[in-house]
Amino acid sequence: MKQKILIINGPNLNLLGRREPGIYGHDTLGDIMARLAAKFPEVETDSFQSNHEGALIDKIHEVGFDDSYAGIVLNAGAYTHTSLALADAIAAVPVKVVEVHLSNVFAREEIRHRSLIAPVCAGSISGFGAKSYELAIRALLTD
Ligand code: DQA
Repeated sequence: MKQKILIINGPNLNLLGRREPGIYGHDTLGDIMARLAAKFPEVETDSFQSNHEGALIDKIHEVGFDDSYAGIVLNAGAYTHTSLALADAIAAVPVKVVEVHLSNVFAREEIRHRSLIAPVCAGSISGFGAKSYELAIRALLTD
């Protein structure tokens, strides 16, 4: 049976390809997800995007107790820097969550240097563009 990984993208990531391409690149979210599916044919890569904090939390609750998932790759967008509720949801579930960012958040404005979710994630990957997702999947698969 294929291993399953859920890739969750938070606010404004639906605009990838059109949104600040100098920072986030020209690929759309669909392009990135399609490339990941092609790169990991042995993995079922499900994906979910929402601009709403509560919807992201509901999704983590839904999948976070399902041991058929090898893990969750989460780009929480700006909620990374603000959402204690999202951090609590990650802490509440046994499924491993890897934090990812396309941009190097530590090379950007100071407010982006703080991640409320990092302490409750298995690890964080930031700054490799679309490759950040690939590295996160590899990290989950090596378990
Ligand atoms: C981001 C970085 C966040 O600071 C920002 O709010 C985003 C995208 C990234 O992937 O680089 O929306 O998570």
